[in-house]
Amino acid sequence: MADCAQHEAILTTHSAAETQSLGARVAAHLRPGDMVRLYGELGAGKTTFIQGVAQGLEVEDYVTSPSFTIIHAHEGRFPLYHLDLYRLGPGDLDDIGIEEVIGSHSVVAVEWAERLPSELQGDGLEVEMGFTEREEQMRRIRLRGHGERLAAAVAALAGELDARAGS
Ligand SMILES: Nc1ncnc2c1ncn2[C@@H]1O[C@H](COP(=O)(O)OP(=O)(O)OP(=O)(O)O)[C@@H](O)[C@H]1O
Ligand SMILES: [Mg+2]
Repeated sequence: MADCAQHEAILTTHSAAETQSLGARVAAHLRPGDMVRLYGELGAGKTTFIQGVAQGLEVEDYVTSPSFTIIHAHEGRFPLYHLDLYRLGPGDLDDIGIEEVIGSHSVVAVEWAERLPSELQGDGLEVEMGFTEREEQMRRIRLRGHGERLAAAVAALAGELDARAGS
């Protein structure tokens, strides 16, 4: 069954630029209707990763720091909605009309995705980012793709990056 397909890969990056370039590679596999759910503590690199996704989707108007706004809309190859749920208050998602945003015409990237209601969790692409003790600029990034296409995408990305690292 397609909805049972799932693939996970753990990657590391060593700079913000490398995380952005991973985001751009991921973007090549995204289709309208996909949700990218990002997890990880403050400063882990979620926004940095989404900047890369935006580049990959050819968004030209990208501006950073949505900290005080929950949702930012961008136009690229197709619409990209960037949600930051850190300061999510009760009823905010209803105000945004989250169900409409998630429609099949756009990609939605969500920081602090653990704050999404449970019915919006579970499919799409999960990106879990964390610090390491080894290097200040190193991040451990776990990608998990749900469904056949995104599972295959994660497997392909892991393969490409392994090949580049020569392992
Ligand atoms: N390998 C790396 N990947 C991503 N960011 C890195 C990396 N190394 C250093 N950084 C730096 O870490 C910071 C990550 O900040 P970013 O805003 O992306 O985090 P965030 O997870 O979105 O945090 P918040 O929860 O506050 O929104 C940036 O200053 C970035 O330059
Ligand atoms: Mg952020």
